[in-house]
Amino acid sequence: MSARPPSRPSIRAEVEAYVRARAPLLYLVTWEEERVLRELEAVAGALKKPLHTWTETGGLRTTGDGNGEHTEDRRLREPAAVLGRVLRDERPGLYALVDFHPYVEQPLVRRLLRDLAHALVTSGKTLVLVSPRLALPFELQKEVTVVEVPLPSHAELDEHLDAITAHLRASGGEVQLDRRERDELVRSAQGMTLQELEQTLALAVVKAGRVDRQVIPLVLAEKEQIVKKSTALEYARWDQGFEAVGGLDQLKAFLRARRDAFSEEARSFGLPAPRGICLIGVQGCGKSLSAKAVARFYRLPLLRFDIGRVFAGIVGRSEENVRAALKLAEQLAPCVLWIDELEKSLAGVQSSGVSDGGTTARVISTITTWLQERGGDGVYVVATANDISRLPPELVRKGRFDEIFFVDLPTTAEREEVLSIHLRRRERDPADFDLGAVARAAHGFSGAELEEVVIAGLYEAFAGRRPLTTGDLLGAVEQTVPLSLTMHERVAGIRAWAEGRARRASSAMDDARPRSAAGAP
Ligand SMILES: Nc1ncnc2c1ncn2[C@@H]1O[C@H](COP(=O)(O)OP(=O)(O)OP(=O)(O)O)[C@@H](O)[C@H]1O
Ligand SMILES: [Mg+2]
Repeated sequence: MSARPPSRPSIRAEVEAYVRARAPLLYLVTWEEERVLRELEAVAGALKKPLHTWTETGGLRTTGDGNGEHTEDRRLREPAAVLGRVLRDERPGLYALVDFHPYVEQPLVRRLLRDLAHALVTSGKTLVLVSPRLALPFELQKEVTVVEVPLPSHAELDEHLDAITAHLRASGGEVQLDRRERDELVRSAQGMTLQELEQTLALAVVKAGRVDRQVIPLVLAEKEQIVKKSTALEYARWDQGFEAVGGLDQLKAFLRARRDAFSEEARSFGLPAPRGICLIGVQGCGKSLSAKAVARFYRLPLLRFDIGRVFAGIVGRSEENVRAALKLAEQLAPCVLWIDELEKSLAGVQSSGVSDGGTTARVISTITTWLQERGGDGVYVVATANDISRLPPELVRKGRFDEIFFVDLPTTAEREEVLSIHLRRRERDPADFDLGAVARAAHGFSGAELEEVVIAGLYEAFAGRRPLTTGDLLGAVEQTVPLSLTMHERVAGIRAWAEGRARRASSAMDDARPRSAAGAP
């Protein structure tokens, strides 16, 4: 599996290009202050300019101004004072202001920043704001060039790993990694900052006295923590594969045909990287189950994107949260990004009755734009939804996905298969039952309801302390009113919607599915 995002210019090259192009104000969004300052020092060196670094605690510190010494000016700790100094300084130079974001809203600071934006263009001076959060007053939005610093690339992690291991060896630590283990370690660390990687390896040395292949699970666990901290993403487990999914033959065939689609070989053959699928359909028929099975089928980590959670927390941060989550997914690629119950998470906010000032609309548009414009980033999206009436139509247009599948109620033969799966999972032999009869009786049942039938039957048998029988299953069917009966109109509505818009996930046809429905050939 090797679907890495296309390489983009390093942050060093990008910043250097902006400085050369005389962008007066840069805003670097990053958690990695140290790495970014190192890169800025390299840029300053390459351009033969001094680098002045401001922090609130240290004031202004200058490196590389020709005499090889650091100078510090602690009188310049005041935000306005340092900006005044930049304005007056006659020499070219790079000014990095670290964590300046709390001050940008102060009237004087805001005014000075605007003045600087104009004055610096012709000056050979560049002001660089370095901060984990993007905070820009409205008046400055046109003046500032924002660069979101990507997490370290594969090559940067690789390079840094060399430095770390050299350091560990020099201080008497042991490092035992062969070429393959090293590669695996670097791949596992993708999505971490250099500092996080370094800390994890240091922890391994403390715990085990050395760095060897045992460190890889540690790195993965640490990464799981990082994902957890990102409010809207979480790692999900894929314990079950397609062997646990009954029916849906078309969907399975579609995925099987693309098994090697993530390989470099497929790329060089001229195939575009797969983008993902959307599963629309009746409740309880295996959409979420299939999403997990896809990740397992492709052997990719599964990230669950909870859109509902991006709306939680500080108002006005929702778009930022969405962007951060999507970006993190890109950093963790190759992976499956599972957006479950697409419509519910969005509709929950829309219907809350609170006017949200267009936030939901902007979140939707951020997601659609991302779905539309991306390509070759190694993120395989699996989106699921069942209530199409509440779904923003622009989200599920073709072109956002490789294919949109319609998941219908199972046919008689499929119901039999689903029953077998759930019996087998509970260590019963399907051959001991007349499943044909149960499946016929369970007309209109969803996969979830069939699972319930097996469970209810088991309860019955257990109550009498006797083996499970076909009669128990039939009894359970009798006791159940399937949702498709009570929600007949909704099921019909989904079918009508899917017609012409989606491809059937299953080729089977019988009286459970009217012939005229969705995508029927
Ligand atoms: N095709 C199927 N094969 C085997 N089991 C199934 C199938 N469909 C549903 N089930 C069982 O029902 C449970 C619920 O299904 P799942 O969560 O995948 O439904 P869904 O389509 O995502 O429903 P919803 O629209 O409510 O989210 C599954 O965990 C599984 O045990
Ligand atoms: Mg579901």
